[in-house]
Amino acid sequence: KDAAASGGKQRDGFTTALGVIAATLGSAVGLGNIWKFPSITGQNGGAAFIIVYLISTLLVGLPVMITEQMLGRKARKDAISTLRELAPKKQPWWLAGAAGVLAAFLIMAFYTEVAGWVFAYIYKSVVGGFLSTDPAVTSQAFVDLITNPMQSLLWQWVVLVVIGAILMMGVSKGIEATTKRLMPILFLLLVAIGIRSLTLEGAGEGLRFLLQPDFSKVTWTTVLVAMGLAFFKLSTGMGTMITYGSYFREEQNIPGTATKVMLADLLVSMLAGIAIFPAVFAFGFEVDAGPSLLFITIPAVFASMPLGNIFMVLFFILAGIAATGAMLSLLEVPVAFINEKMHISRPVATVITVVLLALIGSTAALSSSTLADVKVFGFTFFDLFDYTTSNILLPVGGLFIALFAGWVWGKDRIVDALTNSGALKNEWVVKAFYVVIKFVTPVLLILVLLRGLSII
Ligand code: PFF
Repeated sequence: KDAAASGGKQRDGFTTALGVIAATLGSAVGLGNIWKFPSITGQNGGAAFIIVYLISTLLVGLPVMITEQMLGRKARKDAISTLRELAPKKQPWWLAGAAGVLAAFLIMAFYTEVAGWVFAYIYKSVVGGFLSTDPAVTSQAFVDLITNPMQSLLWQWVVLVVIGAILMMGVSKGIEATTKRLMPILFLLLVAIGIRSLTLEGAGEGLRFLLQPDFSKVTWTTVLVAMGLAFFKLSTGMGTMITYGSYFREEQNIPGTATKVMLADLLVSMLAGIAIFPAVFAFGFEVDAGPSLLFITIPAVFASMPLGNIFMVLFFILAGIAATGAMLSLLEVPVAFINEKMHISRPVATVITVVLLALIGSTAALSSSTLADVKVFGFTFFDLFDYTTSNILLPVGGLFIALFAGWVWGKDRIVDALTNSGALKNEWVVKAFYVVIKFVTPVLLILVLLRGLSII
């Protein structure tokens, strides 16, 4: 076992190579693949967007993921302490970690709400009477759910309690054990629903939409959105991968692991697209329905097919599983910080985090009901948290992490860390990575951020 020793006492960590992959993939795969990716792709021209997203993932998301895991494993501490320890004295790089803890809270605030809707849909589709082929009816059902303050809060709390309970069991017995069981189920469900969708009459059109690029739809906004999605998808730019990296085994091949996770995550997104679009087209529904695709269109689509109620339950269980792995990693960022830095036991740190989240999250949960009229910069709390994290906090966090690694930590340490002190024969990969993280990633990020703020 090499759960790393820190400060003389054994620190909890992931125990096997497979466990590392399951937990990391569990973090990457989430509502992003099922709720965001298909609807954003739908709104931005299908396959053309996917190509821009792929480039963002390769040049920005993946390099930052590798960097975070590398720094975390080196320091073996929470996100803030990692940056504080690795940076030269008096240089405030730890602020990037602090911004990450903030981002974790803000993402969780709306994420737990969407996960709450997913849990509610599982429950409602099991007890039945929920299916209708008429989008007007499914739309009303969704509106009834989100405009009911008590229901919104309650489902969010259910989610928080489930995630809190798993986290209390620790890193290897909680996070690793859970994701190792859930990930295979997720793939099986996805493939089953994908096959069902592809074998529907008229499925070809949906597939074409997903695979045939139309570049006339690609604008600068598309690029910004693609980059934000790449960060959100890979759970990067906010210390999640630093925290998980701190639990990696010493002999883990980080560039290899990150690349596998990135590819598997992409596969899940594409499979989600294959599960959704062919069915949507086959039954003649609108594709660019935005976020309502998941909660309004999908139920109507399932109601239109034979055995639809079974597939509907399976689909939302799939979404619930995906959301769970991601939320474990999101919450682990503050839990690890409170636990290790403030010397508070893990169960108590978890309770503190969950209670704080229930408070902050309630603003997002109530933003379609009690707080619907409260707007900040023209956004409801829900949209504000969603927009500022993906489009500002994560890219800015990613930028500072890239700058720190490329310009402060430096080539020699990077080569040493990513070749496992020469044990891995991947030096050319690491050297190419170094050029990307030092020059390509920061320049791209700065350009897109400035463009996003309408400065250039
Ligand atoms: N990657 C997750 C998803 O795509 O749903 C969301 C996420 C998890 C973002 C963890 C950030 C994070 F730290």
